[in-house]
Amino acid sequence: MSSTSEVTIRIAAIDDAPVLADIFTRAVLDQGPGFCTAAQTAAWASALTAERARSLIVDHATYVAECTDTVVGFATFVAPDVFHMLYVDPDHLVEGIGTALAAVIEQHAHRLGAGELRAEVSDGARIAFESFGFRHEEPHTKLLGDQTFTVTRMSKSLG
Ligand SMILES: CC(C)(COP(=O)(O)OP(=O)(O)OC[C@H]1O[C@@H](n2cnc3c(N)ncnc32)[C@H](O)[C@@H]1OP(=O)(O)O)[C@@H](O)C(=O)NCCC(=O)NCCS
Repeated sequence: MSSTSEVTIRIAAIDDAPVLADIFTRAVLDQGPGFCTAAQTAAWASALTAERARSLIVDHATYVAECTDTVVGFATFVAPDVFHMLYVDPDHLVEGIGTALAAVIEQHAHRLGAGELRAEVSDGARIAFESFGFRHEEPHTKLLGDQTFTVTRMSKSLG
């Protein structure tokens, strides 16, 4: 477990799954309209059900951030080197929670011997990933439901 004065990071438990799905949906509905169409936002917002969140927790390394015992964000690492998810409760944006979660994902990847971390980053998250030390590689198109999205492939060397 690691913590700053306000944020505690711990590995996610199965029981966190519904909260993770809720944070994901609210984060996307809050941030998506800034750079997505309404149809894209709707498709993205419905992409993480509680059942899928349970799979993230069981099959991968998922961490949650807590403020005063309330889960306010989560991040997932997919071996061998993918920073797969980073979502913060819209009521707690720009409080350093994303940065704290990114640091733990980086430590996790480093412990497993990854030479770099790779991510497919939405337009709304690029500034945050740049601040974590990721650099731009190339635009990439993803299909989610019936919607296509342009994301940016970004990476960070851990060497
Ligand atoms: C991207 C996201 C996880 C960032 O979480 P956060 O807790 O607000 O991030 P932090 O507070 O740690 O901020 C990280 C950096 O990004 C900057 N930043 C974050 N949001 C910003 C915004 N909207 N505008 C400008 N800068 C922003 C912060 O100032 C900080 O930079 P600094 O360290 O140089 O001061 C959050 O906005 C989110 O959940 N977005 C919706 C979901 C999403 O797009 N996830 C990524 C999928 S690829």
